[in-house]
Amino acid sequence: MHFKSIPPFAAVFSLAFLGSVEAFWRMNCAVVHTGRVDPLVNPGALAAHAHTIVGGSNIGVNATYSSLLNSQCTSCEITADKSAYWTPLLYYQHANGSFEDVPHGGSVIYYLGRGVNKANIQPFPKGFMMLSGDKAARSYNSTAMTWGNATYYNRPIADRVSFVCLTDGPQPPQQPYMFDTNCANGMRAQIQFQSCWNGKDLYKADNSHVAYMSQIDDGICPPGYPVQFAQLFMETDYAVNDINTSDGGRFVFSQGDPTGYGFHGDFQNGWDMGVQTVAAQNCAATDNFGQISACPILQAYQTDAYAANCPEMPQQVGEKVHGLLDKLPGCINITPGPGRATSADMECGPNVVKAVISSTKDSVPKTYATVAPGQSFGLPGHNYLGCATDSNRTLTEARYTSETYMSVEFCQAYCTNLGYRYSGVEYGSECYCGNQIRTGTVFNSTRCLFQCNANGTEFCGGTFAINVYNNTAATIAATAAYTGVAATPTANAYTAVAAVPAAVPSAKNYLGCAKDLVGGVRTLTGDSTSGSTMTVEICAAYCAAGNNGYGFNYYGLEYSSQCFCGNTLPPMLNLTSTPSNGTCNQRCAGNTTEVCGGPSVLSMYNNTAYNPPKIASSAGKFVSKGCLTDPNTKGRALQGASTTSSTLMTVDYCAKFCLGKNFHYAGVEYGQECYCDNQIRTSVGATATTCPTTSLKTCVGNKQQYCGGPALLNLYYSSSL
Ligand SMILES: *[C@@H]1O[C@H](CO)[C@@H](O)[C@H](O)[C@H]1NC(C)=O
Ligand SMILES: *[C@@H]1O[C@H](CO)[C@@H](O)[C@H](O)[C@H]1NC(C)=O
Ligand SMILES: *[C@@H]1O[C@H](CO)[C@@H](O)[C@H](O)[C@H]1NC(C)=O
Ligand SMILES: *[C@@H]1O[C@H](CO)[C@@H](O)[C@H](O)[C@H]1NC(C)=O
Ligand SMILES: *[C@@H]1O[C@H](CO)[C@@H](O)[C@H](O)[C@H]1NC(C)=O
Ligand SMILES: *[C@@H]1O[C@H](CO)[C@@H](O)[C@H](O)[C@H]1NC(C)=O
Ligand SMILES: *[C@@H]1O[C@H](CO)[C@@H](O)[C@H](O)[C@H]1NC(C)=O
Ligand SMILES: *[C@@H]1O[C@H](CO)[C@@H](O)[C@H](O)[C@H]1NC(C)=O
Ligand SMILES: *[C@@H]1O[C@H](CO)[C@@H](O)[C@H](O)[C@H]1NC(C)=O
Ligand SMILES: *[C@@H]1O[C@H](CO)[C@@H](O)[C@H](O)[C@H]1NC(C)=O
Ligand SMILES: *[C@@H]1O[C@H](CO)[C@@H](O)[C@H](O)[C@H]1NC(C)=O
Ligand SMILES: *[C@@H]1O[C@H](CO)[C@@H](O)[C@H](O)[C@H]1NC(C)=O
Repeated sequence: MHFKSIPPFAAVFSLAFLGSVEAFWRMNCAVVHTGRVDPLVNPGALAAHAHTIVGGSNIGVNATYSSLLNSQCTSCEITADKSAYWTPLLYYQHANGSFEDVPHGGSVIYYLGRGVNKANIQPFPKGFMMLSGDKAARSYNSTAMTWGNATYYNRPIADRVSFVCLTDGPQPPQQPYMFDTNCANGMRAQIQFQSCWNGKDLYKADNSHVAYMSQIDDGICPPGYPVQFAQLFMETDYAVNDINTSDGGRFVFSQGDPTGYGFHGDFQNGWDMGVQTVAAQNCAATDNFGQISACPILQAYQTDAYAANCPEMPQQVGEKVHGLLDKLPGCINITPGPGRATSADMECGPNVVKAVISSTKDSVPKTYATVAPGQSFGLPGHNYLGCATDSNRTLTEARYTSETYMSVEFCQAYCTNLGYRYSGVEYGSECYCGNQIRTGTVFNSTRCLFQCNANGTEFCGGTFAINVYNNTAATIAATAAYTGVAATPTANAYTAVAAVPAAVPSAKNYLGCAKDLVGGVRTLTGDSTSGSTMTVEICAAYCAAGNNGYGFNYYGLEYSSQCFCGNTLPPMLNLTSTPSNGTCNQRCAGNTTEVCGGPSVLSMYNNTAYNPPKIASSAGKFVSKGCLTDPNTKGRALQGASTTSSTLMTVDYCAKFCLGKNFHYAGVEYGQECYCDNQIRTSVGATATTCPTTSLKTCVGNKQQYCGGPALLNLYYSSSL
């Protein structure tokens, strides 16, 4: 496939219908899946035609709110949005009958604050789904109208679909059909969704649970639709001019539509509700020109790496959809209209492709981090013991399952934080902890081949197979030998909890309830995550495993489901003397007996095990001489000898290397480079400098030590050789 002369999200920001209000947010989304998947129209089965889907990676024929929420990633730029959005696929049919899919880079999704009632925009509820558009339409229907009155005029519903031809010259007006397919900068298909809800049904097959506003993009909701949503609007730019159309073929959408009147869009909610609720309240009704940066709650979850983080998932249906095809996916006939297409034309008869739904868990990716028993792996001090059959549980003292967070490091941190020596990962998503290993366990299984849900390059056990790690830190005690009898589990009795949980957790490392977003600035600026299973323990483990396995100094929980990590506390928090500055009274989404902050307030904890990296004061005969710049524009600061190593570099390693070559100076740079000399080459601009820890990188061979930074050396000197 040829990608592509226009950027996927051309900066040409048309939204021609925009009036004076500019209250909305928008996000870019790359493609996460392509195929005959449509859990709204064809739940549990193959869809009639193929779709391009953006959003949560768990999209599939059986996708639900909770499965989407548990997606490993989203291809949209706001990581708290694991919703799925989909539209039909555009193909070009060559004169000889072959079809070729038209490249595009995904979609741009808008949440527009519109309507008379826009001050009262509500979030899409859990489980909510809707479809806009009419796949069977092949001409403009001027009779079906929205609801309106003399003040707020109504409008043909068919206007929900529009096409824009992105030309170099003056742009022709948009039309509700594919009116021109020779567009130098791409052809944009747009769909507007219903913004009025009956307040009751999460989905109805005829979509009567929702209605359009009177002017579709503005106005009032009809009687019986009391709830106002943001107006969802989706744009997809097709690189039509990347297709060689000289043979006089035609463009056709995957449901057999060469007109564009049948363009449609589907939305299945997968938002983190806490985030969506705040965004709906704060960011859809203030004029902010669509900037995510104007919406702190969304900015906290914004990433530019959405396409790389969540690439297109493998085919779930054993059917080709990309490249050159003999026919449209499914047995779709082309129906030019103007009459409506019939289901016989658009639905598959006998030649339905058998669904070959493969579990990605069982497919072994090419490059896994491998580790042999006895070696250390994951967090510092953890030795790998091996893979054991786990039909009788090997570790029984604590367990945790997470489709979202599980990795070797996460499980190790989870168990360590609970005081357990042994940790084990299983089935991609399960973590077991204990201080004893079941008697009779033999590490001889070969079935630990599942990738970890949160890290596709690590193994996390298999079906009844567990990878076990031993935290060799002396402070973690293994208890008495396993007796073979599991403790009697306590009855799962329901304990009524107080209406508002205790405001201050009793944990020794609890710091207090701290304000967040003071002046719009996050208090903890390291990694962050959120989810409907959030607990204090999850956040502790997440932050302890983050920062390249090194952990963060502090963690904080907010808004019941959000977790933030960081290494510095803003001085204004004054935590030691003012333990509670704010009211943290929301239960944790994953454990209602725990407190997880509140709106814009954090339950703050200290990761007491955090041990910051240090500048080694010496290595053998070499002693630290501070830092030295290495601008390297005219040559290196140290020029006697040099080595680079991606896995072994430490200050010791470098000192030994330079000693072996009879040099007095040794310098480590950029985490992994080592330079030696007998003099400092000030002539090339090298100067002594302070050692700013924000610029220093940890040594690739020892994360507790600093090894210089970009154009910055940690310098060491030995007077004797
Ligand atoms: C979808 O659900 C149906 C009904 O529960 C089940 O038979 C089918 O195997 C599921 N398909 C996938 C891909 O999970
Ligand atoms: C049809 O034409 C396209 C474009 O020229 C070509 O790539 C394809 O191979 C042809 N298909 C067949 C079946 O000849
Ligand atoms: C146009 O819409 C009306 C009202 O919904 C419907 O009865 C009619 O069948 C539609 N016509 C076409 C050609 O889709
Ligand atoms: C139209 O509906 C709006 C909102 O319900 C109402 O305020 C207005 O008075 C109505 N106008 C007419 C002419 O009925
Ligand atoms: C994934 O696992 C590999 C191998 O253990 C590790 O190097 C990498 O840092 C991990 N990635 C993340 C994001 O944790
Ligand atoms: C599992 O443990 C039980 C009780 O200790 C024992 O009877 C059984 O044989 C064990 N099964 C396997 C497969 O090891
Ligand atoms: C692993 O060891 C157990 C116990 O000795 C034995 O029953 C089992 O067959 C072995 N499995 C493999 C794959 O070697
Ligand atoms: C785990 O590590 C501790 C400390 O090094 C050691 O005493 C213990 O024997 C190890 N456990 C196993 C099963 O190797
Ligand atoms: C911290 O709180 C103490 C006691 O309330 C107060 O004396 C001190 O000035 C505060 N420090 C800052 C930096 O606000
Ligand atoms: C709480 O923190 C804010 C800054 O976020 C500060 O202005 C205020 O004085 C603090 N209140 C107390 C009681 O420390
Ligand atoms: C919920 O939190 C309480 C208090 O921290 C803890 O005792 C309990 O084990 C937790 N439950 C789960 C399922 O994590
Ligand atoms: C966090 O814990 C460490 C280790 O116990 C301690 O040295 C440090 O003072 C604590 N930080 C705060 C802010 O309480």
